[in-house]
Amino acid sequence: MAEETLKAQAYQQLIRAVEAALSGEPDPLIWMAGLSCLIRDTLDFVWVGFYRVQGDELLIGPYQGTFGCTRIPFGKGICGTCAVHRKTIIVPDVHQFPGHIACDSKSKSEIVVPVFDETGQLRAVIDIDSVEYSTFDRTDQDYLERIAKMMRGLEWSRIG
Ligand code: SME
Repeated sequence: MAEETLKAQAYQQLIRAVEAALSGEPDPLIWMAGLSCLIRDTLDFVWVGFYRVQGDELLIGPYQGTFGCTRIPFGKGICGTCAVHRKTIIVPDVHQFPGHIACDSKSKSEIVVPVFDETGQLRAVIDIDSVEYSTFDRTDQDYLERIAKMMRGLEWSRIG
């Protein structure tokens, strides 16, 4: 079966697992912890996690992987660039991205997806790293943005 079809099937399985495990749960930290685990288990990425927005900084949230950089100012690295532009960023080769912050030396490509609340305020970013170059494409973007939308109505005031 084509690689893209397999990837789409893995994401569909992921969405079903997320709905089964987390639907009705209002707490953002529980979602971030659960998603980090489910995304990494289903798609086998090397680093999967969240950075939470506080002021103009991103603070490490729940994640699965090697020790993650704890604070990222808006505008720095791939995550900080995503926070400023409020758009998904796909980086086929992290070594070519100016200012890339390396948290795992094995990481070769990366996708960062913004998470907004119901008012359109940026609340977090989803950060995912792969050990292969050019891992992420439109399929990853579409499904991860769908997951980010599932988080829109959470009680974000619980995490300030
Ligand atoms: N590579 C990210 C930093 C976070 S780690 O990959 C976990 C960046 O450049 O923003």
